[in-house]
Amino acid sequence: ACNKSGSLYRTNCYEMCMKGAESVDSIKAVILAAGEGKRMKSTTPKVLHKVCGVEMVQRVLNACPSQCEPIVVVGHGKDKVAPFVEQTAKVVEQKEQKGTGHAVQMALPYLEGYQGKTLILAGDMPLLTQNTLECLIEKTPAQGAALLTSIAEDPTGYGRILRDENGHVSKIVEHKDATEEERLVKEVNASVYCFDNQALLQGLAQLTCDNAQQEYYLTDCIEFLVRHNKPVVAVVAEAAECMGVNDRIQLMQAEQYLQEKIKRQHMQNGVTIIDPQQVYIEENVIIGQDTILYPGVMLKGNTSIGKNCVLMGSSRIENSVIGDGVELQNSVVVESEIGSETTVGPFAYLRPHSKVGCGCKVGDFVEVKNANVGDGTKLPHLSYIGDADIGKACNIACGTIFVNYDGKIKQRSTVEDHCFIGCNVNLVAPVTVKEGAYVAAGTTVTEEVEAGS
Ligand code: UD1
Ligand code: CA
Repeated sequence: ACNKSGSLYRTNCYEMCMKGAESVDSIKAVILAAGEGKRMKSTTPKVLHKVCGVEMVQRVLNACPSQCEPIVVVGHGKDKVAPFVEQTAKVVEQKEQKGTGHAVQMALPYLEGYQGKTLILAGDMPLLTQNTLECLIEKTPAQGAALLTSIAEDPTGYGRILRDENGHVSKIVEHKDATEEERLVKEVNASVYCFDNQALLQGLAQLTCDNAQQEYYLTDCIEFLVRHNKPVVAVVAEAAECMGVNDRIQLMQAEQYLQEKIKRQHMQNGVTIIDPQQVYIEENVIIGQDTILYPGVMLKGNTSIGKNCVLMGSSRIENSVIGDGVELQNSVVVESEIGSETTVGPFAYLRPHSKVGCGCKVGDFVEVKNANVGDGTKLPHLSYIGDADIGKACNIACGTIFVNYDGKIKQRSTVEDHCFIGCNVNLVAPVTVKEGAYVAAGTTVTEEVEAGS
């Protein structure tokens, strides 16, 4: 499945992995996340910084194939990292950061006696994909190891992959320990490995800190295997995927890489994005055909946008469902639903649990919260619709307020179908305006309004 230079292409990976799909032996996955991440200059631990809305360590966890049992090594910032990963992974602590090999040693209680394969990953690699890890696992030889490498344009700082005259990996030399000649090598260590666990344990037991940084290098396990004639395989992956984030510039680069990938996919599926540089889309977002995104649009979380929508201006839509043909300008929609052919904004705010029907109008400076708005109802301007149920084909005129809070509790109000609520009306909850009623401007409603009155 490799080409001449030993590179593994994704398409090959896929075929290969499908072939191997029957084998579902569990695999230990040790994720190193104890380092300080000094260059981030942050009070947030490095691995909790987000790329495209998801914490880097979460991305690494997500990239682990389903048969993995993750173990996260925490140290710096453990008070924040441990609670974050606890739900999905086992957590071990590395009290002093004595190197990557030492970090893996902290997971020994979970590795000793185990006969399968062990994946080792760094927590700061947000672009790693599951496909690549599946390939790495697949390629791991019995009693040996497979490691991920890439060809870096600028290999400064990375460990270099040294190969013998036959092209086999012989060792990894850290930048700080490398000779001038070794530093010319552009193939670098990604810091992602899959070991036969017993081979790993033997390697870990031999580590010393006799090097420039006086650290226990995990990389020395590779040289150990080679010296003992155990098989070591290098899998060459795309440089981007192997990128480790060490500072905010690399964080931005990872973000841009993912954003571009996501936006290209939408464009290929028939979405117009006028200026992709100025649009932000997270990866779970779904967008229908012929929808147009103007600059300033931000689509987050599990959001679905229908077909033929036009989204304009500085707008944020988060965890929401938008129907077809919706026009939205300069508005914020959070955890809400908007029916087809409805217009929203400019400057509307739909707060959680709002459900606006089809063919509605939510105009300027209208706030809707925890409310249902029936089909064809208009909320043209300057209203607060909180904790309300409004029927179909109503007109809620300018300045209407659903007075939902008496200082102690919040209560709901109802306006039934075909009502007209005039300007500057207060509806003091809990109150009901029955079907087809007409409320004149300036009224403060504190009692039920009869149907048709
Ligand atoms: C490491 C590799 C290098 C590789 C590079 C890729 C070693 C010795 N070097 O170098 O070959 O090219 O990654 O990015 O392995 N960590 C701990 N505890 C420690 C030290 C590190 O948990 O005591 C964690 C860090 O949080 C990080 C990962 O291990 O997630 C890598 O550590 P880092 O110090 O960034 O290694 P590099 O010097 O970049
Ligand atoms: Ca690093």
